[in-house]
Amino acid sequence: MKKILAILLALVLVLSFAACASTAETTNEDSNAQTNETADTTETGDTDASAEDTDAAAEDAGAATEETTDAAFTTVEEGKLHMSTNAAFPPYEMVADGEGFEGTGYEGIDVEIAYAIAQKLGLELVVDDMDFTAALEAAQSGKCDMVMAGVTVNEDRLAVMDFSDSYATGVQVVIVTEDSPIATLDDIEGKLIGTQKGTTGFTYASYPPEEGGYGEDAVIGFDNGLSAVQALKNGQVDCVIIDNAPAQSFVAENPGLKILDTEWVTEDYAIGVAKGNTALLDAINGALAELIADGTVQSIIDTYITAE
Ligand code: ARG
Repeated sequence: MKKILAILLALVLVLSFAACASTAETTNEDSNAQTNETADTTETGDTDASAEDTDAAAEDAGAATEETTDAAFTTVEEGKLHMSTNAAFPPYEMVADGEGFEGTGYEGIDVEIAYAIAQKLGLELVVDDMDFTAALEAAQSGKCDMVMAGVTVNEDRLAVMDFSDSYATGVQVVIVTEDSPIATLDDIEGKLIGTQKGTTGFTYASYPPEEGGYGEDAVIGFDNGLSAVQALKNGQVDCVIIDNAPAQSFVAENPGLKILDTEWVTEDYAIGVAKGNTALLDAINGALAELIADGTVQSIIDTYITAE
């Protein structure tokens, strides 16, 4: 019995070491593994690596060296996928009342998609909740593996980080009180706009009028969308510019508010990673493509957003 335990333990150790090593392995080792398949099967580590491969990189079609792409990525913490986010953006990410989705402590579209990606990559999802700007920076600097926070892809961000394929769209909309004099986008001129700091809503609204905005002085940045909405209710701002999905959710929970019919800007949401981290990005895109193709992404979105 003891012997069996000892053998099992040794096996576990070898396997976990192999898993760790495989992430750190260079492409050299891997092309080796390719040409040397039979010889390599004697190594316990390799069965593990190839099991991971089928799971993780099945999507890296086209790449002649499937194993290379897969084995090359590393994560901040071994065996885990750290997602930075700002969990105050329903229905994309929220702090859960209880255990949250799969015990993450969080729930929402991004949390569930991230969990599914992590599963495909054989990793445990860890959600790191922080300010929105900090969440972007955490991925940029490689402190977290990826940022998933209903993040809009735009030129400014593409200059400092890399993005996955898009998995959803967002639209910037305007929330006003039901009795507001603001009926169209033109009526916003000369009014105070509440936004969430660091978001595209904040940035675009702050642009000078020549560039389609209302000017910096017209815009107040709040820590999160809900604070901006509360400021609207208290009369501290005249409207709130924010993504449509959280807008719907805030309006549903706060009687007396409505969303203007005019939609402002349409945007693509994607997952951000540190610039140049192609290995991880490829792995994420591979997993994401599978989840889009098999309908998982759409069904996750549908659970949280009911079609109008
Ligand atoms: N889509 C907007 C942006 O990328 C807002 C995202 C805010 N996300 C959040 N989790 N607070 O700037």
